[in-house]
Amino acid sequence: MRKIFVYFLLMGAMVVSSCGKKSPDEKKSKGAKSKTEFPKEVKDLLAKMSVEEKAGQMTQIDIRNLLNDGYGNTDQKINAEKLAEAIQKYHVGSLLNCIHAYTPEKWIELITQIQDEAMKTPNKIPILYGTDAVHGVGFISGATLFPHNIGLAATRNDALVKEAGHITAIEARSVGFTWNFAPVLDVGREPYWSRLEETFGEDVYLCKQMGNAAIIGMESPGLNSNQGVAACMKHFIGYSAPKNGIDRTQAHLPEIVLREYYLPPFAEAVRNGVATVMINSAEINGIPTHGNKSLLTDLLRDELGFEGMACSDWEDIIRLHTWHKVAATPKEAVAMAVNAGVDMSMVPNDFSFPQYVVELVNEGKISKERLDEAVGRILTLKHKLGLFANPMPDTTHIKTIGSEKHQQVALEAARESIVLLENKNSLLPLKSNARILVAGPCANSVTALNSSWSYTWQGDVASLYPEEATTVVSSLEAKFGKGNVISNAVADFDAVANYDAAFIRKNAGSSDVIVLCLGEPAYAEQPGVIKDLNLPAEQKELVRAAKQTGKPVVLLLIEGRPRLLPEVADLADAVLLCFRPGNTGGTAIAEILAGDVNPSARMPFTYPRYNGDIILYDHKWKEIEQQLKAGVADTLAFNPQWEFGRGLSYTTFEFSNLKTDKQEFSKSDSVKVDVTVKNTGERAGKVSVELYSRDHFASITPNVRRLRKYSKIELNPGESKEITFYVNAEDLAFVSKEHVRITEPGKFDLMVEGQKTVIELK
Ligand code: BGC
Repeated sequence: MRKIFVYFLLMGAMVVSSCGKKSPDEKKSKGAKSKTEFPKEVKDLLAKMSVEEKAGQMTQIDIRNLLNDGYGNTDQKINAEKLAEAIQKYHVGSLLNCIHAYTPEKWIELITQIQDEAMKTPNKIPILYGTDAVHGVGFISGATLFPHNIGLAATRNDALVKEAGHITAIEARSVGFTWNFAPVLDVGREPYWSRLEETFGEDVYLCKQMGNAAIIGMESPGLNSNQGVAACMKHFIGYSAPKNGIDRTQAHLPEIVLREYYLPPFAEAVRNGVATVMINSAEINGIPTHGNKSLLTDLLRDELGFEGMACSDWEDIIRLHTWHKVAATPKEAVAMAVNAGVDMSMVPNDFSFPQYVVELVNEGKISKERLDEAVGRILTLKHKLGLFANPMPDTTHIKTIGSEKHQQVALEAARESIVLLENKNSLLPLKSNARILVAGPCANSVTALNSSWSYTWQGDVASLYPEEATTVVSSLEAKFGKGNVISNAVADFDAVANYDAAFIRKNAGSSDVIVLCLGEPAYAEQPGVIKDLNLPAEQKELVRAAKQTGKPVVLLLIEGRPRLLPEVADLADAVLLCFRPGNTGGTAIAEILAGDVNPSARMPFTYPRYNGDIILYDHKWKEIEQQLKAGVADTLAFNPQWEFGRGLSYTTFEFSNLKTDKQEFSKSDSVKVDVTVKNTGERAGKVSVELYSRDHFASITPNVRRLRKYSKIELNPGESKEITFYVNAEDLAFVSKEHVRITEPGKFDLMVEGQKTVIELK
């Protein structure tokens, strides 16, 4: 019989089947934690509070409901009566903002007024204020905006991601935002999904590493410091896997797949003590996640040991009734979600939730224990954030909002996030006096560079962006001189001028190179749903028109997900994938085109060539072992446009001497893996050294390769370095048919760039 090694996850809790297959006693005996011990202050408070107050604490309302004229507000002022109604009458415990960017001063005024009101309540319970600071604090005007996570993943620079998270926390906390609905830990394996830009891409390990770097950055040096906020791992779990690519729709996820590809980033975040979680709006296997006790309690609490607070997503409790139709009434929906394990409801537009909770508790349909558990978690979070000691915004670091120092970090992140995909005949970098014709819908757009969660939810209102925010055109003018940039591109993505092939033909003669800025407008969530992954035909036409002029063509792809261009990709002489690089993105692009910055990013996802041929880098062997008739074979083998991990540089690197300290290892060993990397080109450059593994044979079909480690280094021309990784059996594990992480004895390839060596687990 084959011996298998079973791994224990998180504080001794074994990875067992979550879906009701074990009795509660069995689970507890595995060392799992389901009950949290609350601090004394919280216990004392719980003992004093009425059911109404407790239900109110579980309620989160959108601030717009409390402003003059509600959603139609224009004066940025709170309506005192509405505020009192929310806090005194309904005992609301939390507010959020996800739509309007106000100045720091305005936020401080509003949040101070809110906390003042909360201090008038009998128990003086402060308000927990949350926002979506998804790539920087998009709802503070003037705050620092970083590249979206998909670009951060391309940097392969965990330290930079951590720093971005920390800066975000400092800026948020300075105005009184103490809770950030970020980061997205959903693994981005569905390229159609309109939230791919918010993810760290398709690889499990990359999402785990980067997502957790962000969490540590946001929550350090501690929740009660004036530089930390509560992070929110979201959206637990399976949200990024909609069956047909459409946001907030059903996923079909067998447990083995859920555990192999979607759980690890969340499990790691729990291990790191993440403060909060937000639940997946959609459904898995027909069960809406907000009502799925197996996932929200058995898996998240009992197995992983999560002790933080669980919040619903937008309106998603009532949607168990209105959308998902698993609850016959709104009240039944509330009972279902709370009993499944949701502690707080992002209601967010009425006070029905707390009233239902009170009724349900009085009717015995929500137990007093469950009520206290939920409220205890909320109060514990407020306590950890130091809000009982000081509920008011601590403005110590207010001057750092959007400061030069913070912007520099954003710029550095943007520089490292842009992937050089093609560079025929070393077209790039361009000469410093090059005359550049710039065209395309993204050429003069700040909104395309930032997209979701930027000043508005959709990020598509250019007038709200700061004056300093760059576009590609303005950045190229600054870098190459105004007289060297020829463009008639305008801000409006769909404007006729942005698709003007005649302009390209007319002006090509007086230019050295044509830079086409293609891709996607800004969007977030459902408004970003598309039915065809292809780049729109009129954008492809621009590539053809540019190529026909005989001038070299550079494509800048500014987009949140791969938009396909198989017919024209080869017409381009150089291609840069820019993702959503943020407000400093234009500058970073210009610096790369000019050669001031040497690109160092690597692909965070596989860029498909065809709609019908979406195969990820870590596919199974059979996906590429097709028996096809002649003529289709070439289009259906693994033949993406650009593969995960691809990323060129202006210099060249040579990888050699991949070796391990042992060929055979046991489950208690760590294998030392060394590889030498040399900069063989003429300029300094950064490179991510990436170690992949391949299991030769396994009881569950092995992936063709999996990323196991990476390390980003910088080398001067001629310089070489030996990089060391340590690999153990757990690093090579997979989820078995019993839903347990195991590593089976046998051989594994370890691969770095073109190098390969074999190790064997005995
Ligand atoms: C999104 C969440 C977000 C929330 C609050 C929802 O629509 O799915 O990611 O945090 O809104 O803005």
